[in-house]
Amino acid sequence: MTRYIFYSGKGGVGKTTMASASAVHYAMNGKKTLIVTTDPASNLADVFEQEIGHKITPIRGIKNLWAMEIEPDKATKEYKEKIIAPYREIMPEDVIASLEENLSGPCTTAMAAFDRFIDFMEGDEYDSIIFDTAPTGHTIRLLQLPVDWSKHIQEAASGSGQTCLGPVQTIQDSKDKYDRATALLKDTEKTTFIFVMRPEDLSLYETQRASRELETIGIVSGELIINGILPEEVCGIEFFKKKYEAQQNIIRQAESLINKPKQFMFLRDNEVKGLKSLESVADELFNGRKPSFQSGIEHTPFALQLLWRRPI
Ligand SMILES: Nc1ncnc2c1ncn2[C@@H]1O[C@H](COP(=O)(O)OP(=O)(O)OP(=O)(O)O)[C@@H](O)[C@H]1O
Ligand SMILES: [Mg+2]
Repeated sequence: MTRYIFYSGKGGVGKTTMASASAVHYAMNGKKTLIVTTDPASNLADVFEQEIGHKITPIRGIKNLWAMEIEPDKATKEYKEKIIAPYREIMPEDVIASLEENLSGPCTTAMAAFDRFIDFMEGDEYDSIIFDTAPTGHTIRLLQLPVDWSKHIQEAASGSGQTCLGPVQTIQDSKDKYDRATALLKDTEKTTFIFVMRPEDLSLYETQRASRELETIGIVSGELIINGILPEEVCGIEFFKKKYEAQQNIIRQAESLINKPKQFMFLRDNEVKGLKSLESVADELFNGRKPSFQSGIEHTPFALQLLWRRPI
């Protein structure tokens, strides 16, 4: 187990569920654990059935577990203030105003989200930090930022001296920070990327693409969770038998195309919410305990609902 674990994948595949179940598992095993979501549309609060928000919040009913939902607006405000604060006393008001204006573009928002995230990676308060990320595209852009930013700052320093965040001197320190973050992300002893996919064509395709994109920025570590697999027991019904076979076909393709350690998770007959439910998912994820299907086929309509749930 590495200290930092990222869960990534297409919309709706089960990233938050798997990240939360792992967080519960590590916390129960005595590791001081923080789960952070970088998804602006986070549902972590629903999964843990309590309010979380833009602050580190202890999770009720379990020891050693904290959570935080990074809110882009608040992160941006904090970040701006962090850059401007040292100049407030020593610079005239118009300079401060122009600095503030410089810090109003979309690049500030992106950088702010990343800044918060690096702070977590640099601290040593937690034994385990789990990042529940937004659907793939967003996350990869976020992870590319430190590489791009570091380059951008270097070029600005030897050229115009201007970055889209203002004069290069004001953000020079950030370059070191981004370089350190990039090194941490690439360090397979420290960071693991776990791709989550459903046993479906598009999900397989997306996983391969994301894994290649991460490789282009030097991130090679990774594991794969195939989530939402139908148990063989459903094959008594022709409709489900077809679904089952289609899934097994994708699983075989994933086995041969994706060269990463794999975990297989069954589709459950209930939505995963609350500590008990998360413990049960963790038990399957870490101890291979198959969920019980006591409810059997009477629950088909709900199972169907889950099966047809399309990513957002
Ligand atoms: N193995 C499973 N069995 C049954 N339901 C599951 C399983 N895994 C996830 N779910 C349910 O599927 C839905 C989507 O899961 P989750 O929120 O974890 O996905 P996500 O990848 O984080 O989605 P998003 O991209 O929207 O953040 C949730 O309602 C969750 O409870
Ligand atoms: Mg999610």
